[in-house]
Amino acid sequence: MFKRLAKCIAFANIKGGTGKTTTCINIAGYLAKSGNKVLVVDFDPQANATSGLGIDGTTIEYSMYDAFLNQCQGYDGIPITKIVLETSVENIHLVPSSLNLGVASMLLQGTRDKTGILKRIIEPVKSFYDYILIDVPSDTGLFMLNSLRAAEQIVIPLDPSIFSLEALEYLKTYCRDIEEMSDHVINQITVVLNRAIISNSTQNSSGKPSPSEEIESRLKELPDPVFVVPQSLLIYRSQQEGLPISHYATNTGKIGKAYEAIATHLSGNSNVVTIPEREAEYAS
Ligand SMILES: Nc1ncnc2c1ncn2[C@@H]1O[C@H](COP(=O)(O)OP(=O)(O)OP(=O)(O)O)[C@@H](O)[C@H]1O
Ligand SMILES: [Mg+2]
Repeated sequence: MFKRLAKCIAFANIKGGTGKTTTCINIAGYLAKSGNKVLVVDFDPQANATSGLGIDGTTIEYSMYDAFLNQCQGYDGIPITKIVLETSVENIHLVPSSLNLGVASMLLQGTRDKTGILKRIIEPVKSFYDYILIDVPSDTGLFMLNSLRAAEQIVIPLDPSIFSLEALEYLKTYCRDIEEMSDHVINQITVVLNRAIISNSTQNSSGKPSPSEEIESRLKELPDPVFVVPQSLLIYRSQQEGLPISHYATNTGKIGKAYEAIATHLSGNSNVVTIPEREAEYAS
């Protein structure tokens, strides 16, 4: 008999504020819209994926903290199956987070295989979902290593800055290290240039490329698939309502197309939209 086995995708960057949570929520939206069962795991004590999917953190009984405790030697926790919540979006379930997850790393004395905790947490629910999307905090330690070991694919959202290019290289080194340290294989890294600003004659009278376009050119040299997501007011409005844009608006324009293309690519049946193709599309 056919058995589901979720593909696990981590949305990660060691740099903060690059769009990890926003990308995670919106990819979840488009994957769910095409009929996939999606679990979003909020692995960030900031709990932005939790509020971004419309769940009020003050009302939740259990969170990732309890799932984490369940894996710590000498503590009573709660299995993930009792923590998963439904959201208002059909086909998206959530493991919510809470601020106390931030201190979980202090409770690990005596716990075996400390970078395999998240992998062990999600194991019991992998057969219920098509995709498990992990929203990773901007971290260089325990949370990052656990996330990279739990996921077969990594999505790295970048903001258009020089520091982001540096962070990308560091994170790729982390991916290689985790593969060397364990028997885990990361199948694919996908880069998302987020909040891209496409210059036009009114924005840029000098005719020079914008910083965003300069970063794009640098990313073109990478062997990894690269997608570009424009800056959009829809993000602010949809997050205010606790919904992915796919379920917030009917006309989602260029940003909707961009997320849809990434979701198709991650589900493994797409022609990758590389930057040159995107330029043709966005120029129209
Ligand atoms: N394409 C976009 N257009 C407009 N605003 C965006 C876009 N992507 C992200 N934002 C906004 O940028 C801010 C940072 O995004 P987000 O919280 O997703 O980043 P993050 O990498 O998850 O941050 P952190 O490191 O704190 O977890 C948020 O206020 C979000 O609403
Ligand atoms: Mg975040």
